[in-house]
Amino acid sequence: MKIISVVGARPNFMKIAPLLREFERYKEIESILVHTGQHYDKKMSDSFFNELQIKEPDINLNVGSSSHAIQTAQIMTKFAPVLVKEKPDYVIVVGDVNSTLACTITAKKLNISVVHIESGLRSFDRTMPEEINRIVTDSISDILFTTCDDGTNNLLKEGVDKKRIFMVGNSMIDTLAFELKRLTNTSAKNTQDYAVLTLHRPSNVDDKKSLHALLEIFNDISKKIDIKFPVHPRTLNQIKRFKLNKMISPNIELLPPLSYLNFLRLYKDARLVLTDSGGIQEETSYLNIPCITLRANTERPVTINEGTNILVGTSRTKILRSFNSIMKISSKTCKKIKYWDGQTSKRITKILLKSYKKR
Ligand code: UD1
Repeated sequence: MKIISVVGARPNFMKIAPLLREFERYKEIESILVHTGQHYDKKMSDSFFNELQIKEPDINLNVGSSSHAIQTAQIMTKFAPVLVKEKPDYVIVVGDVNSTLACTITAKKLNISVVHIESGLRSFDRTMPEEINRIVTDSISDILFTTCDDGTNNLLKEGVDKKRIFMVGNSMIDTLAFELKRLTNTSAKNTQDYAVLTLHRPSNVDDKKSLHALLEIFNDISKKIDIKFPVHPRTLNQIKRFKLNKMISPNIELLPPLSYLNFLRLYKDARLVLTDSGGIQEETSYLNIPCITLRANTERPVTINEGTNILVGTSRTKILRSFNSIMKISSKTCKKIKYWDGQTSKRITKILLKSYKKR
């Protein structure tokens, strides 16, 4: 069984790492890793390969940054010859980034089976580039692995045949569970009180007024608790472009993008997290850390219903109200989410081997 797994952007690496490790246990699996190069900075990409002990990509398409249209087209142009040469049985894509969409379309046009991991998540907001990537990817994928029942139900509503959907849990939590164990053995707990902030979504950072308003709210929060803010390259570019550097309070510590382990070291002991990321809503839920999500919607409602997530959008009143209520309690209790147990990659591999035998 020959499999090409695709990674492109930072949130893909932790979703694929445990799967590659699992594949290595089977002699009958030939595993090839392709990196599209969507993220290319050392801090956004290379550090993850070292820390998560993922093998170096066998093939790097080196596409880099550009508009969505150009980036998607370049990935497709460069991925097609790889598929023609390698003739894999399956292409595995994860998540919802441009690399996910581009590689899915390319493989399907060559009649190669596509496996989508983290299928079925929907924000129902089609202004979000990731939502378009999710809908198109799911509509043409052959095997769809979901992280929770919401994902499965969304796919069923869209008419996907239930025989192709498998609820297997969250492979990103496999990585978190694995790395957390290594980390708690080696590093001490941070005892000071602080909040962690991440922000990179175009709707929050690409418009000067919105970014300015958010930074003012963070300044107010930082009067009550120190904030540590690892800054995504897109956000840093925008802060500089809009000349907003000077307004940021000294209580907000600006950090470079962190490696997986350094970020985990930082947020695992945080009093709370403020974020517009997708994956961090899940990771904080697993770790039982209160998470304020600075978005109008989320494709991960399970983190609200069963985890620690609070969806507040960008309203000043709502953000401050949630912040104040979190500061009054020690932590929000959350349930264990089904199959978020560190065993997802094992489940995925077994299903793939079985489906391959049936072909
Ligand atoms: C992408 C994903 C988003 C994910 C995020 C995580 C899409 C549509 N978006 O957004 O879902 O949450 O990754 O980080 O695929 N840049 C660098 N160095 C890099 C990468 C990017 O400086 O290694 C800068 C460039 O200025 C680039 C900008 O960041 O233009 C945006 O990068 P891009 O990959 O287009 O989207 P992200 O905002 O990172």
